[in-house]
Amino acid sequence: MNDVYVLGIETSCDETAASVVKNGTEIISNVVASQIESHKRFGGVVPEIASRHHVEQITFVIEEALETSGLAPDQLSAVAVTEGPGLVGALLVGVNAAKAFAFAHGLPLVGVHHIAGHIYANRLEQEMEFPLLALVISGGHTELILMKAHGDFELIGETRDDAAGEAYDKVARTLNLPYPGGPHIDRLAHESEQAIDFPRSWLEEGSYDFSFSGLKSSVLNFMHNAAQRGESVDPKRVAAGFQASVVEVVTGKTLRAARQYGVKQVIAAGGVAANKGLRTSLEATFKKEDIPFFIPPLPLCTDNAAMIAAAGTVMFEKGLHHTMKMNGRPGMELTSWG
Ligand code: KG4
Ligand code: ZN
Repeated sequence: MNDVYVLGIETSCDETAASVVKNGTEIISNVVASQIESHKRFGGVVPEIASRHHVEQITFVIEEALETSGLAPDQLSAVAVTEGPGLVGALLVGVNAAKAFAFAHGLPLVGVHHIAGHIYANRLEQEMEFPLLALVISGGHTELILMKAHGDFELIGETRDDAAGEAYDKVARTLNLPYPGGPHIDRLAHESEQAIDFPRSWLEEGSYDFSFSGLKSSVLNFMHNAAQRGESVDPKRVAAGFQASVVEVVTGKTLRAARQYGVKQVIAAGGVAANKGLRTSLEATFKKEDIPFFIPPLPLCTDNAAMIAAAGTVMFEKGLHHTMKMNGRPGMELTSWG
């Protein structure tokens, strides 16, 4: 069988990324232009600025990904792009670039769900084994997804309010930490021996859903009350307490789901999967449980295009091609393939 080379493009949020992946498993090139510096002073991603940056970067990023792959466009098998969900103006830049590239070189076009991409980042490291449980935890998502086969996604739990990363970023802001705050809270949490006791949000018995807004409010109230009393607060203890609550609930729910569905593999994905406290907890838990557990290396946890190419390869092989009518879909739901 011939090798399949897919060009992946990702522009759903604040990274402009392009990558070439071989057979859905091997990274040939992987280019990510981050905009974090431009959004930092606003304390979050500003959609208009994101779109403008994508427009400026996209051509260079695609060119670089192709050039470092050493492949000519006619050696590619398909172009895969993030179709949604994400910021509409940001998605459109990637979708239009993908359409133009596919049209110019007569290549099939595949639209990929961003979360399917995060999950398939794991396939760039080791083969997936089903049934598999995926914990997708990022700035926009906190989801538990059961997969019984390639492209078969069953959502068994999701956040009812804030995504975990969003809660991290908001708590970080009240502690006057720079954006994105997740890595800073993670670092501070590890520097403290003591942790403030914040609530655990387990929701109703048996639920795999998450909720982080109550925890976030507890932290904000704690800070507010301390300020009113004129007391100084040790941000390390706050960070440690907040992180302990997130880690305990996320690990607990993931373990319970893994047991209930008898999965052969547990994988984590998304920016918050980079969290050291969460990684350590999940690794120790699943080692004890004797279930193989994987997290992709850091650059594949956060947004990138290799993951889109990896997921897009499986869709391409299933014959799931899009037409030139494809549009960015900001509220796209994750549905199974075929
Ligand atoms: O997956 P990602 O790059 O973008 C989305 O699709 O959302 O995730 C970004 C999120 C941000 O909220 C950031 O604060 C969080 O991931 N993050 C972390 C860590 N590194 C990144 N959160 C906690 N601990 C970390 N070490
Ligand atoms: Zn993401």
